[in-house]
Amino acid sequence: MPRTVFVTGAAGFIGSHLCEALLARGDRVFGIDNFDPFYDRRIKERNLAKLSAHPSFSFLEGDIRDASALARWGEGMPADALIHLAAKAGVRPSVADPVGYADVNVLGTIRVLDWARERRVPKLLFASSSSVYGGNTKVPFAEDDFVDRPVSPYAATKKAGELLCHTYCHLYGMNVVALRFFTVYGPRQRPEMAIHKFTRRILEGEGIDLYGDGSSRRDYTHIDDIVSGILGSMGAPPGYRVYNLGESATISLSDLVALIEKACGKAAVRRFLPPQPGDVPVTCADISRARNEIGYDPRTPIGRGVSRFVEWYRCEVTTRPA
Ligand SMILES: NC(=O)c1ccc[n+]([C@@H]2O[C@H](COP(=O)([O-])OP(=O)(O)OC[C@H]3O[C@@H](n4cnc5c(N)ncnc54)[C@H](O)[C@@H]3O)[C@@H](O)[C@H]2O)c1
Repeated sequence: MPRTVFVTGAAGFIGSHLCEALLARGDRVFGIDNFDPFYDRRIKERNLAKLSAHPSFSFLEGDIRDASALARWGEGMPADALIHLAAKAGVRPSVADPVGYADVNVLGTIRVLDWARERRVPKLLFASSSSVYGGNTKVPFAEDDFVDRPVSPYAATKKAGELLCHTYCHLYGMNVVALRFFTVYGPRQRPEMAIHKFTRRILEGEGIDLYGDGSSRRDYTHIDDIVSGILGSMGAPPGYRVYNLGESATISLSDLVALIEKACGKAAVRRFLPPQPGDVPVTCADISRARNEIGYDPRTPIGRGVSRFVEWYRCEVTTRPA
């Protein structure tokens, strides 16, 4: 049955893919985004281009911290679900701007929770992050692992977001799902993220900076798998639930660069630098809970996902306006 779904951060990387998938299955979608200047507004406008033409998509340019913008958002339209993706994303920049991150990711999340409470939204999904596991050395990371030692302001704000979701669930009987995304990649990935940045620099013949000795490992999750995990979690059991959405496989930074070189058909010029504050040595998701409860079934191994990303990137640079 078609639903009415509200999506914050709709113009971003994950948000724009998610809105497309919701529309494709027949839902009515209301998006909001403030075009945060973290990266070029024109990229976000381009992310929205296909959506804007769809008759079931409505978009409001507005800030989730602004109660009057939220009041105008889809006014009078009952919501079946709210998917809260808007945030200041990224670990490293959060070290330089903890106040900005807390403002959007914590206070903004409270505004969104209040909005959902007032509008009696039956299901709220919150974009959390694998970064909440901090320097966890027990691999793979499971949802019940200890997550009280974040190592970046970004991670702390995501953990705070989860705590607030739990609080609203407890106080007001809301149904909330916190989804811990593990490094997401694919077409339209944020331009500062590793796979996008390395591809761009290798193809342009520029050197790439590698932090650490190349042995750090990440669980990279393809955007198609994240989107199906988000859609699946709309049917999660009631109350407060937490799910890891990862690929549940890791690759070292050195091997990732080798994959990108192969897909680009060009060698990278590597520059090794010390690890950055806030970085963690490994991320790897235990996805058994998500498999069992929401039917999550990731299907894109990193090798295939990287080749598809490079194909998309090549096409993107030749077709985007100057
Ligand atoms: N991409 C990843 O690897 C990853 C991993 C873990 C968690 N996440 C989380 O998933 C969500 C989406 O990430 P993404 O990679 O698509 O990032 P993104 O930056 O592309 O998307 C976030 C969107 O939120 C918008 N936004 C920021 N502040 C806002 C505000 N005050 N009001 C309204 N809109 C605002 C931005 O303009 C942007 O379009 C974020 O919550 C992020 O923390 C992402």
